[in-house]
Amino acid sequence: MHRRLIAPGALAASLLLAIPASAASSSPGAPGIGDPYYPAYGNGGYDVSHYDLRLTYQPRTDELEGTATLLATTTQDLSRFDLDFLLDVSEVRVNGAKASFATSGQHELEITPAKPLPKGTPVTVVVRYSGVPSTKSAYGFSTWHRTPDGAVAADEPEAAWWWYPSNDHPLDKATYDVSVAVPDGTQAISNGTLQSTSSRLGWTRYNWRSNKPQATYLTTLAVGKFDITTSTSEGGVPVVNAYSKDLGDNDGAARASVERTGELVDWLSGYFGPYPFSSAGGYVPNTTTGYALETQTRVYYSPKQFANGSNTSVVVHELAHQWYGDDVSLKGWKDIWINEGFARYAQWLWSEHEGEGTAQELADYVYTSHPADDAFWTVEPGDPGPDDQFDIAVYDRGALAVQALRNEIGDDAFFAVLKGWPKKHAYGNASVDDFRKYAEQVSGKPLAALFDTWLFQPSKPAVSAARGVSLARGEGVPARPKSWKRIAATDSVHGR
Ligand code: ARG
Ligand code: ZN
Repeated sequence: MHRRLIAPGALAASLLLAIPASAASSSPGAPGIGDPYYPAYGNGGYDVSHYDLRLTYQPRTDELEGTATLLATTTQDLSRFDLDFLLDVSEVRVNGAKASFATSGQHELEITPAKPLPKGTPVTVVVRYSGVPSTKSAYGFSTWHRTPDGAVAADEPEAAWWWYPSNDHPLDKATYDVSVAVPDGTQAISNGTLQSTSSRLGWTRYNWRSNKPQATYLTTLAVGKFDITTSTSEGGVPVVNAYSKDLGDNDGAARASVERTGELVDWLSGYFGPYPFSSAGGYVPNTTTGYALETQTRVYYSPKQFANGSNTSVVVHELAHQWYGDDVSLKGWKDIWINEGFARYAQWLWSEHEGEGTAQELADYVYTSHPADDAFWTVEPGDPGPDDQFDIAVYDRGALAVQALRNEIGDDAFFAVLKGWPKKHAYGNASVDDFRKYAEQVSGKPLAALFDTWLFQPSKPAVSAARGVSLARGEGVPARPKSWKRIAATDSVHGR
């Protein structure tokens, strides 16, 4: 009997021993992925490979509801993990079993599975949710944009929180199936290919698939009344574009620009290598926003970009990102130069092609038009800080650095680097440091000093230090390219 009295303790001890060491040592995943620019963005402890979003959206009321199913793999023993999300969650299941959940911080959905998850195992997470995205904000802002006939999710560095739960950082790329039901007569636009549409009970469902790794911020949704066009580029890339039926006077210029997507994808392939995705295109919703975004395979354009007539330059910029930014994504947000410096440089190459000023002329123009005491030079494109991440200097000083590199290593090595980089890091992530090492390897030249001068100093590089800028005409103001105004106008970063 005495032994029986101690039996419960013995039972507890044996249960404890029965728990695998891994589960016993499991701990919560970090609430951020570790990016110093945005400490709470993304999460630790797992890696998502696929998002399946099955949603319904009512434009009249801005109500969004549905289910997100995430396929992930744990990267540590997990007692709990976070997703980044703002809408109202009604149920979470992990590997089929109901999980408890809570919200914390600005945008964390904390999920506690019934049982701890051992490291390295596949996990299926189902999140059922609903909400009115326009009523949600984090850090006092919202990137959900309503339009007269719908809404748009397209922003950088964050847009997902308002419409699907995610590990919101480019380090965790995944494939996507996005299925959205909208009232008949309304369209839903997303990334990749339109697999099918179906209609019932007054709702039309659009099934989109993006089958190559895609960063969360490059996943987009637009609902509204759109005219959808399809074509195939000469080089064989399928193109899907969509134009709000409410673009007014900008409609013609928008189409005159975006309908050239196939031609421009083929042209860029000459510099960057084969187009990395199975579909290309863009959409122009009836928003009042001013920026464009390289949302993967389906670029987001604001009508404002076409207010002065056609703007192929912005199309080139966003399509260049499909290689520089989307195919090869940054490792941390500090690496933004690899995105914006090269997308801007592609615009310079296009300018040269169009006879509107050579890349060198534009580099000389940028160099000369900003005096040494201009705050422009205080921004370090190689690590601009979150507040200046999209400063004009990241684009223009960034492209100037690209020209400096070209002049330093010569055209053969430069264009080999330009084309080799997307191949080297296809569908992956890379940093500015990785880029320097790659350019050094291809060119056989040490480039630390050049990179430091052009990307990492808060001051204007001296002409003497600037082997890069071949100010062919000396230190004076270079002759302006004949249409410099069109290229350099910075009423937005994509001034026409
Ligand atoms: N990557 C975008 C572009 O250069 C910039 C987006 C900036 N984001 C914003 N909300 N303004 O085209
Ligand atoms: Zn850009």
